[in-house]
Amino acid sequence: MKRLAGKSALITGAARGIGRAFAQAYVREGARVAIADIDLARARAAASELGDAAIAVEMDVSRQESIERAVSETLAALGGIDILINNAAIFTAAPITEIGRDDFERVFNINVAGTLFTLQAVARHMIERGEGGKIINMASQAGRRGEPLVAVYCASKAAVISLTQSAGLNLISHGINVNAISPGVVDGEHWDGVDAFFAKYENKAPGQKKTEVGNAVPFGRMGTAEDLCGMAVFLASADADYVVGQTYNVDGGQWLN
Ligand SMILES: NC(=O)c1ccc[n+]([C@@H]2O[C@H](COP(=O)([O-])OP(=O)(O)OC[C@H]3O[C@@H](n4cnc5c(N)ncnc54)[C@H](O)[C@@H]3O)[C@@H](O)[C@H]2O)c1
Repeated sequence: MKRLAGKSALITGAARGIGRAFAQAYVREGARVAIADIDLARARAAASELGDAAIAVEMDVSRQESIERAVSETLAALGGIDILINNAAIFTAAPITEIGRDDFERVFNINVAGTLFTLQAVARHMIERGEGGKIINMASQAGRRGEPLVAVYCASKAAVISLTQSAGLNLISHGINVNAISPGVVDGEHWDGVDAFFAKYENKAPGQKKTEVGNAVPFGRMGTAEDLCGMAVFLASADADYVVGQTYNVDGGQWLN
């Protein structure tokens, strides 16, 4: 029995990386998915691999009108939204003395406001429809503690953990479960960018930081997007009906709580 049979999901930032793997996993479990991304060409490519079960939607989570348009488009195409994954985010790094206000605002507009106002738009639909729903936010081990060069991204992910708790408590009376996944270090294009920041600020050779962080994971390697899919399916399924406001570490043992 497919665990998400008949369900419809909106996944932001799903054109590549972890979001794309989530879309593939959800389709394998019987769901239809809207692959929403600021990069429409890649969203279309990712959707076309999944055939009739997926649509591509253009969405910039940092712009309110784009959120509303993307949610309306998804509702028109899929008939409803049972599951939302707030996955779109960007990374930045700089020493405290070099953080620019523009960079701070860009990261918080996407990672924090994007998560909150996409969650709000979808929660309004779920409440109106009266059938509950599942909302999953992408946090990070970076949200569990600060890092010397990663203040803004870390703070944005700490905010995602906090929003998950508040929204979880506020929306459970409507049968809407809000929870989060906290990955550690997941290989892919995102981490290629992170590696480049550390090459710049710590004088490391390209690829060196990636090797170091992979070796430091208790499991023995960096994560893959596929490593996170089991948790994403669980949190979207009826098995998670009694799970409220939690942030789950899926990180090979990097963070213990
Ligand atoms: N990769 C990791 O090591 C790691 C670790 C912890 C948490 N995470 C989190 O997991 C999530 C996915 O990470 P990933 O590694 O797949 O990242 P990624 O950079 O590979 O993919 C992010 C996607 O979001 C899209 N995007 C960027 N800005 C957007 C916007 N304004 N509106 C809509 N879409 C936008 C990008 O086009 C891209 O397709 C993110 O929330 C990230 O912070 C990743």
